[in-house]
Amino acid sequence: MENANYIASDTRYSHPEFYRRSGNSGILLPKISLGLWKNFGHTTDFLLAQELLHYAFDNGITHFDLANNYGPPPGAAEVLFGQVLNSSFSSYRDELFISTKAGYEMWAGPYGNWGSRKSLISSLDQSLKRMRTDYVDLFYIHRYDPATPLDETLQALVDIVRSGKALYVGISRWPLHATIYGLEYLKKEKVPCLCYQGRLNLLDRSPINEGILSFLRDNNCGFVSFSPLAQGLLAGRYMNGIPSNSRIRKETSLVADTLTDELHHQLLKLKHISEERNETMAQVALNWILHQDGVTSVIVGASTKEQLADSIQSAYCPKLTQEELDVLNKIYI
Ligand SMILES: NC(=O)c1ccc[n+]([C@@H]2O[C@H](COP(=O)([O-])OP(=O)(O)OC[C@H]3O[C@@H](n4cnc5c(N)ncnc54)[C@H](OP(=O)(O)O)[C@@H]3O)[C@@H](O)[C@H]2O)c1
Repeated sequence: MENANYIASDTRYSHPEFYRRSGNSGILLPKISLGLWKNFGHTTDFLLAQELLHYAFDNGITHFDLANNYGPPPGAAEVLFGQVLNSSFSSYRDELFISTKAGYEMWAGPYGNWGSRKSLISSLDQSLKRMRTDYVDLFYIHRYDPATPLDETLQALVDIVRSGKALYVGISRWPLHATIYGLEYLKKEKVPCLCYQGRLNLLDRSPINEGILSFLRDNNCGFVSFSPLAQGLLAGRYMNGIPSNSRIRKETSLVADTLTDELHHQLLKLKHISEERNETMAQVALNWILHQDGVTSVIVGASTKEQLADSIQSAYCPKLTQEELDVLNKIYI
């Protein structure tokens, strides 16, 4: 069933401009990374998912973003990724940059959720078993836990790196005050934060508005954007109704109520620019994020190879003009 005879394309690294350094670390990440939140669970055909992963790698995507709870059901994306990692990707392990996370509910009881040392270390051990690997490249605390002392969470991250189970650590969705504290703590322990993962897209600029992006930039920490296409809204997926195979139909993370006339009106501005540039809406939307100073990579999702191809192409599109940026910067909901 697995395509273990895969040989990666020899042109996969022919575009050095496809990579950006994460902060002042030694790590280069592709401008476009692939996330496995959706489309890599039990409801996905394994061969299609494997083909998507091969396509990504053939086109220079080295960074694959997972979490303990990705599926459905939770854990399934890591199991699927582990199958590929141990078959067709097995000879490429050192070319891959694999991240996983813990912090959302994963198992029953008081230890399967949030940011305690117990939860983070147990969860990472489970992730490693599911992926059948000894280490991940990057381990994130997935969200801010107001009830656990920051020192406990941060020391667990430090100890995880020292144990060799992760090479780097990152922080996701923490508010600015905790991020400031976290970066300082990790720096003192000589386990610097490789990157922060936050939602930044044309419809949600919180990391910019809250000063997170500029703080990270000033402190030499990378920033990776999740849901860069607002789960498909910015890719024009719903400009003409709700397709039967779309996320709104298949998942609960995006709901039809989001599709207001006002949103449509705002998205038409993006569509207009994309038509003038002869690009897709997804390409312009991703390009806008990559234009923001301090952004290392965008982690896209994709349900087909064609979508991924389209998104990858954004890394090679001409820069947005000031006039285009002025219009895009005024998009709001
Ligand atoms: N740290 C966190 O808390 C957090 C939270 C959420 C996500 N993430 C990470 O971010 C990754 C990406 O999130 P996301 O899946 O929401 O990203 P996204 O790129 O905003 O949305 C992906 C969806 O948009 C549609 N799409 C993508 N490219 C397209 C294209 N070129 N043309 C038309 N439609 C396109 C597809 O929708 P259809 O399925 O409808 O085809 C696809 O499933 C996740 O996999 C995960 O790794 C992290």
